[in-house]
Amino acid sequence: MKPGDPEAVRELFERIAPRYDQLNDLLSLGQHRLWKRQAVAWLQPRPGQRLLDLCCGTGDLALILAEKVRPGGCVLGLDAAQAPLEVASRRAAANPWLALQWQQGDALATGLADASHDGAVMAYGLRNLADPAMALRELHRLLRPGARAAVLDFNRPDPAAGRSAQAVAAFQRFYLRQLVVPTARLVGLPEHYAYLEASLATFPLAAEQLQLAHQAGFRQGSHRPLAGGLMGMLELVA
Ligand SMILES: C[S@@+](CC[C@H](N)C(=O)[O-])C[C@H]1O[C@@H](n2cnc3c(N)ncnc32)[C@H](O)[C@@H]1O
Repeated sequence: MKPGDPEAVRELFERIAPRYDQLNDLLSLGQHRLWKRQAVAWLQPRPGQRLLDLCCGTGDLALILAEKVRPGGCVLGLDAAQAPLEVASRRAAANPWLALQWQQGDALATGLADASHDGAVMAYGLRNLADPAMALRELHRLLRPGARAAVLDFNRPDPAAGRSAQAVAAFQRFYLRQLVVPTARLVGLPEHYAYLEASLATFPLAAEQLQLAHQAGFRQGSHRPLAGGLMGMLELVA
């Protein structure tokens, strides 16, 4: 499938949803949990805050955040696909003391009010969106001035950055082709995970993401490489 085709991307995540968490744990050796914790650490969630998890998938980050904003706060998880949101709702039902809401919608045009949130995360979402610039503008629009956002995703190493970046890119290719796709094949989803490499090929480089964030109105931003540069996190202040 082609990256940037919203309907095809949504269908892909509808199909993956029942296996998504299991595969995530397996393919990252559980490391995605640590990277997500880094996003939470940047956000510094506090009791009473209203937070947003865009492209929330099965809701693991939203659940962590909901624990941190107690008492008085709430977290809204938004995703385009229904199947991951159903998994998220079941998880939330097992933690009824958490103030969580789920909404099916488009991260590029959420329909939510301006400056309505005290912080936001987007994990492994930006790469899947048809227009990253528009996504960052929408993210900025939803945040009150001074609010923080963490945008976590695969990092696309800049080939112009020298040998170490080229080595990371080579390892990333090996990881995606020799580990991720064959593992996904075992559970009947090879073409879905082959999409990962295709989506990364057109993903903006770190410097480009920062420029887009600046153009979207964020007044402060940095890009932090994680896992030796395999992953990256935009740390933004609205
Ligand atoms: C790789 S998953 C990440 C899920 C979760 N944030 C995580 O880190 O595990 C990407 C998610 O983005 C969602 N998505 C794709 N396009 C979207 C859009 N235009 N608006 C909202 N969500 C979208 C997909 O349905 C999918 O659940």
